Amino acid sequence: MKQIARYLPGRVRSAAATRAAAKVVSRATRAAARTRAAAAGFAYAQAWRRHSHPVNGAVTRPAKGQAVATNRLDAFFDARTSGRGIVKWRHYLEIYDRHLAKFVGEPSTLLEIGIYAGGSLDMWREYLGPGSELYGVDIDPYCKRFEEATVFTGDQADRAFWERFRAETPLLDIIVDDGGHTVEQQRVTLEELLPRLRPGGVYICEDIHGDDNGFLGYVHGLSRGLFGYDLTLDEANPGRVLSSPATPFQSAIHSVHVYPYVVVIERRDVPLDELVASKHGTEWPPP
Ligand SMILES: C[S@@+](CC[C@H](N)C(=O)[O-])C[C@H]1O[C@@H](n2cnc3c(N)ncnc32)[C@H](O)[C@@H]1O
Repeated sequence: MKQIARYLPGRVRSAAATRAAAKVVSRATRAAARTRAAAAGFAYAQAWRRHSHPVNGAVTRPAKGQAVATNRLDAFFDARTSGRGIVKWRHYLEIYDRHLAKFVGEPSTLLEIGIYAGGSLDMWREYLGPGSELYGVDIDPYCKRFEEATVFTGDQADRAFWERFRAETPLLDIIVDDGGHTVEQQRVTLEELLPRLRPGGVYICEDIHGDDNGFLGYVHGLSRGLFGYDLTLDEANPGRVLSSPATPFQSAIHSVHVYPYVVVIERRDVPLDELVASKHGTEWPPP
């Protein structure tokens, strides 16, 4: 009570007010603890020094400047020495393949926001195969000329534009936001399009630069939405010792992946009703 009183502006007059105040205080305390933990995690990452945590076994690296083709996207990128331009951070190619390989050769729908010179549309066509239906959005009407995709001219920060876009397009398997890269554009686009992902769909947002990037903060908040719980403990039932009903967000969203400059969000194949912990085995330490 003394602890709580420290945070209160005046005297606590009723038990109900005390309980309400305690709730506020504990929420504020938890928020402060979260902020401290986030700062500690960031400090730990910054203090990480090259070679200070060696791994066992030989690590073979390519010679500096030597390109190594590790997947079909790398191969496409390396082979694009003339023609329509494409500009990519090199490490994105591995990330794309990790999350999108399941769509290769399958019928699928892809939307790319930010077409520029058209080379990335060529890359998606080549990678996904002829069964993929490509859609593109760019603010620059120049991009209307690219016939590999159905191209819409519009501003990704304009929610009314997305309403029109949604009316004319099917649900999407893959969304790649490589547009204007401002926090507002990235946020509006995510909020307008994440619900348009098909089950099993993948949302990629590129070029999130800087450890103080506002959209990164938004994504951290979004991923917190995966961690909520409302636990039921049932020790007599080893099949479901602990369970928690899935929140609407947990039910729809499988995972949020963070890479240098890129965030990938995967939608669940099948909605999740609850999260369950089971106990398997017969030998346990004494209670
Ligand atoms: C980085 S380039 C895209 C690069 C291309 N995807 C590639 O891989 O080569 C960014 C594109 O986003 C477009 N863009 C910028 N602001 C936009 C906005 N508000 N809405 C839609 N597109 C935008 C630009 O016109 C430009 O073509």
